[in-house]
Amino acid sequence: MFLGFDIGTSGVKALLLDLDGRIIASTSASLNVTRPHPGWSEQAPTDWWNAVNETALKLARDHAKAMADVQAIGLSGQMHGMVALDKDDNVLRPAILWNDTRNAAEATELDEEFSDYRLLGGNAVMPGFTAPKALWMARHEPDLFTKITTILLPKDYVRFRMSGEKVSDMSDSAGTLWLDVAARAWSPALLSPCGLSIEQMPELAEGSAPAGQLRPDIAQKWGIKNTVTIAGGGGDNAAAACGLGVTNPGDAFLSLGTSGVVFSVTDSFAPAPANGAHAFCHALPDTWHQMGVILAATDCLNWLSEISNTSVVTLMNSIENNSFSPSPMLFHPYLSGERTPHNDALARGGFFGISRTDDRTDMTRAVLEGVAFAMADTVNVLAAADKRPSQLLATGGGAKSNYWLSLIAAVTDCDIIIPEDGDFGAALGAARLGLLASKPYSATDVATILRKPDIIGTISPDAMIKDALGDRRHQWQQLYAAIKTIR
Ligand code: XUL
Repeated sequence: MFLGFDIGTSGVKALLLDLDGRIIASTSASLNVTRPHPGWSEQAPTDWWNAVNETALKLARDHAKAMADVQAIGLSGQMHGMVALDKDDNVLRPAILWNDTRNAAEATELDEEFSDYRLLGGNAVMPGFTAPKALWMARHEPDLFTKITTILLPKDYVRFRMSGEKVSDMSDSAGTLWLDVAARAWSPALLSPCGLSIEQMPELAEGSAPAGQLRPDIAQKWGIKNTVTIAGGGGDNAAAACGLGVTNPGDAFLSLGTSGVVFSVTDSFAPAPANGAHAFCHALPDTWHQMGVILAATDCLNWLSEISNTSVVTLMNSIENNSFSPSPMLFHPYLSGERTPHNDALARGGFFGISRTDDRTDMTRAVLEGVAFAMADTVNVLAAADKRPSQLLATGGGAKSNYWLSLIAAVTDCDIIIPEDGDFGAALGAARLGLLASKPYSATDVATILRKPDIIGTISPDAMIKDALGDRRHQWQQLYAAIKTIR
């Protein structure tokens, strides 16, 4: 048995996988985000650890036999978040998360003054990444900053609590911007502008390699009878790619989660920083990927649901129960600023063109269209950077909506592939990485373990939707350009 944990932003998910790659059970525990100031986004690392324990104990209670058999664990997590530890390994402050944009000035400064971030790090410096978070801390919390002995990413803090070992994998580490992505090694040239050194970084391991051992007392608490290897694991997007079998050059997926992601595998380090494409290591040796990220995808729906006091299900039913009809208004999904393509931490969301007769359903349509337009911008950036993905495997909570996917297929001009109903996310990818780390496997075994899901359908670009949304998209893009300076 193999156990995968995904340390997400809204919750921790745990999943049990058997030796044949079948999911035996999964469970989750929710997490809260604290936003003490506009643009800030924080979580207490102990909350992740408590949530991991909650899920493990639930599995131990409901699937005792399977848990007793666990041989290896894989970890996945929200990327970029900074956990700062002091010399006694105490957490110095709440973790600053991937969608926190307080450090926009530091990001711009690093990007403009140190070209190595783009050359070696493969990315424009954006506020989401870890490097500018550290520089923000050095400037704004100098007393705490000087106490930093170790910096860990979210899933690696959990590994530390599980094993006492400080290790990270390549895919997640690339998201710090302190990694020489081609060499798969920490780069002193990228660490030093932030006042940091390699001594403060964890050891590095490949995602599918052993990177720690579960402490016997924790194994016992979780009802596990074996000595348990912990795999390097991966950042949530690379781990999700392992869950979806997106591991060969040209394979690509689209994720509609809190953030929206287009992820495409490349056979070498392929930086294309100009319009906000990310170039990171994959969670497998000798493999890299490109990625475009929008900061709010389903998060826009969650926000609309909160402020309209209407559940997301009710909002979506009002759309799904009817055939396509364009919204009379436009919506910019930049609730937390934007990464790809604008790299604009100060961008904000907005509805434009509301009439007295418009209602909540029109606003919901506008939200779905606005996110679809943003995903299309992202696909265009990846197309310009490498090649246009011909197919995108759909994943994430938002991908349950065929209506939403049909909008995205039309505006991106890509076929969207729908996997069979099931669980193909980052927790599965993490468990698969655990399986790979448990003993040496042949290349054929690896391909079987990291297989793609069965496909139940393809949503191709629909001419009528394309026609209806083509001009709207153009207006939506012009609107951003027109109001960019109004802040
Ligand atoms: C990727 C990114 C997000 C987080 C969300 O660069 O910031 O996808 O990993 O969990």
